[in-house]
Amino acid sequence: MARRPLIAGNWKMNAGGADGCTLAANVARLTAGFGNVDMLVAPPFTALAAVAHELSQAPRKVFLAAQNMHFEMSGAFTGEVSPSMLKESGVEWVIIGHSERRHIFGETDTMIAKKVIAAMRERIVPIVCVGETLDEREAGQTLEVVQKQVLAFRGALAENPGYGVIAYEPVWAIGTGKVAKAEDAQEVHAMIRKLLAAASDELADTTRILYGGSVKADNAAGLLGQTDIDGALVGGASLDAAGFAKIAEAGNQVAAAQA
Ligand code: PGA
Repeated sequence: MARRPLIAGNWKMNAGGADGCTLAANVARLTAGFGNVDMLVAPPFTALAAVAHELSQAPRKVFLAAQNMHFEMSGAFTGEVSPSMLKESGVEWVIIGHSERRHIFGETDTMIAKKVIAAMRERIVPIVCVGETLDEREAGQTLEVVQKQVLAFRGALAENPGYGVIAYEPVWAIGTGKVAKAEDAQEVHAMIRKLLAAASDELADTTRILYGGSVKADNAAGLLGQTDIDGALVGGASLDAAGFAKIAEAGNQVAAAQA
């Protein structure tokens, strides 16, 4: 079955406040004609409410995601933000387990699974990130590493097939300009889908698996044309509305050709 491409922009620690509102408005304006793709932006926490307001007046639907959240609903967790707080800010999606969270902030598979469970329970769509490091890839461990990461949260996604999203982001390709070859990315995506199929065919058929890692306007079409690549999670290139819209255009064309 055809899965609708999702083009997601992870702004990381950029574009807060007024800059974020301008960027979001431009993304909505420049992608208004691309009816075959879903669009999403993930601003920093402090810009979420303002961007939600901006997007409520936009010429197309652009989903709003946070870049992280805690799994508890409230309590003594200084510096953390809960699922209900995100919802109050107008957020319906959340990126979980981004490699920068795993590697810089020490998030484990166990913590990530708790966050996925909390997001599913609170009706916030999780985009769960997985991916191997350069050392792991060179040691031939890519499939093994990604499999372990996926199995940690597969059960939570299986509770509501097609609701959650997975993003495969090889760590060595993030922010480095080194994009995975489309066929290499496809191989990992196919393996992830097989893992989902072992839980249920419905889960495998309906779950969108995004690719992330140096996606740009000039490499998007090749990646998005792969059978098991259902969208892109874009970092650096999502900070430029025109470049991000070009990625969306590539997704829109691929989807139109497959329809
Ligand atoms: P990049 O980041 O596009 O800048 O490589 C992707 C990501 O971290 O989600």
